[in-house]
Amino acid sequence: MNEAAIWAEMGDEGFRQLVTAFYRRIPADDLLGPMYPAQDLAGAEERLYLFLCFRLGGDTRYQEQRGHPRLRMRHMPFRIGVAERDRWLQLMGEAMTECEVGAEVRSELEPFFAQVADFMRNQEPT
Ligand code: HEM
Repeated sequence: MNEAAIWAEMGDEGFRQLVTAFYRRIPADDLLGPMYPAQDLAGAEERLYLFLCFRLGGDTRYQEQRGHPRLRMRHMPFRIGVAERDRWLQLMGEAMTECEVGAEVRSELEPFFAQVADFMRNQEPT
């Protein structure tokens, strides 16, 4: 993955907008909405934003506030199967469209999100 090219186009502001567009879709979502903390959606939004700035831009704020990401462990309290994974990716796809993420960067971000989302799965397909 070409993190430098992604960061050059998205930057801090681009990821802020992307995450805002993603989280705007969460409360009304029948599958994912109930999983997120209704009283701290802004906090959840901030954590994803800082994680993306960390993972794709080398920004240290996420680590300073949250330590090692341990994403798989942090997703264990939630039941994540194929349907939840695919819904997360669908909402992120819609957010990327809304934010008019360029085709080249999108072709890098899509497989990145898909890989991480699949790694979060903690339920076998039935
Ligand atoms: C596969 C479907 C996914 C579901 C259902 C899901 C759900 C959740 C939920 C319910 C939280 C707790 C919200 C909070 O209070 O922070 C969370 C946290 C988080 N998720 Fe996901 N997530 C998914 C995939 C992903 C992916 C693909 C990424 C990264 C690209 C990601 C990154 C994060 C981060 C960084 C946090 C905050 C971790 C922390 O506590 O520092 N998630 N997720």
